[in-house]
Amino acid sequence: MNPFICPLCQTVFQQTNNTQICANNHHFDIAKEGYLNLLPVNAKNSKNPGDNKEMMQARRAFLNSDGYLPLAEKVSELVSAYLTDKEQAQILDLGCGEGYYTALLAEQLPEKFIINGLDISKVAIRYAAKRYKNINFCVASAYDVPLPDNSLDALIRIYAPSLDSELQRLIKQNGYLITVTPAPRHLFQLREKIYQQVNEHAQENSAPSGFNKIEQINLNYPLQVTEAQTVQDLINMTPFAWKFNKQTMQDLLAEKSWSIECDFNIEIYQKQKDSTDKE
Ligand SMILES: C[S@@+](CC[C@H](N)C(=O)[O-])C[C@H]1O[C@@H](n2cnc3c(N)ncnc32)[C@H](O)[C@@H]1O
Ligand SMILES: [Zn+2]
Repeated sequence: MNPFICPLCQTVFQQTNNTQICANNHHFDIAKEGYLNLLPVNAKNSKNPGDNKEMMQARRAFLNSDGYLPLAEKVSELVSAYLTDKEQAQILDLGCGEGYYTALLAEQLPEKFIINGLDISKVAIRYAAKRYKNINFCVASAYDVPLPDNSLDALIRIYAPSLDSELQRLIKQNGYLITVTPAPRHLFQLREKIYQQVNEHAQENSAPSGFNKIEQINLNYPLQVTEAQTVQDLINMTPFAWKFNKQTMQDLLAEKSWSIECDFNIEIYQKQKDSTDKE
């Protein structure tokens, strides 16, 4: 069942044919790929917010090579372990991109769990919904999520933005927030090609207000790549892609094989019993 609510008046939807209609008669068409576009036009800062088609295609091509499979498996394993006593659960992958991690969650968690993905990029969600059918996808902003208060057992946020007040509003009491951010040596061998000095400062994220950090994991492994195209895809999906000039790129791609460190910081937070209770 689709858990999304009307982004304009926060009431629940009833489906009529291929349209979701709320109590106040706001209409949202279900796209042919099965997703809902719940981003109000006036909430867009640009015509096509979020990752563009080129970045999204590079990410899909790279992820298809399973270079980040150890991360996807670790995240699924954690969600599964933390929700082990649940018969049913609502899960949101916030800023899910083209759905790679969301899909592994859906595959590995019990069938009764409801898996949802949200991203502000329409092209990413279109790709996600076309490929993965057993997941509810919607286009919306992470800053204004069309889901009810206290509705999520777990929220996953992998390299995506969020707002503490929204995390606090959405997650149930004792529910979990699992975040993935880059750790100091992430893609070191690529970054050292473009930066004189690679910043290796350790990153300790503090708990969003209303949450306690309950676990922190450093996932580090060498990614062995044998195809130049995979290196190219990996670079094109990073924010430093534009820092490579023609020469540095040519030199890098001329190598026959690559060993690139992946270094992820995984943090698990739990929403405090009563976040208004200061004791
Ligand atoms: C670095 S990508 C990560 C995507 C995915 N989690 C992954 O790791 O493959 C960041 C994603 O956040 C999305 N994004 C950026 N701003 C957003 C916002 N305000 N609300 C929702 N998604 C947003 C982008 O469109 C992009 O898909
Ligand atoms: Zn409405």
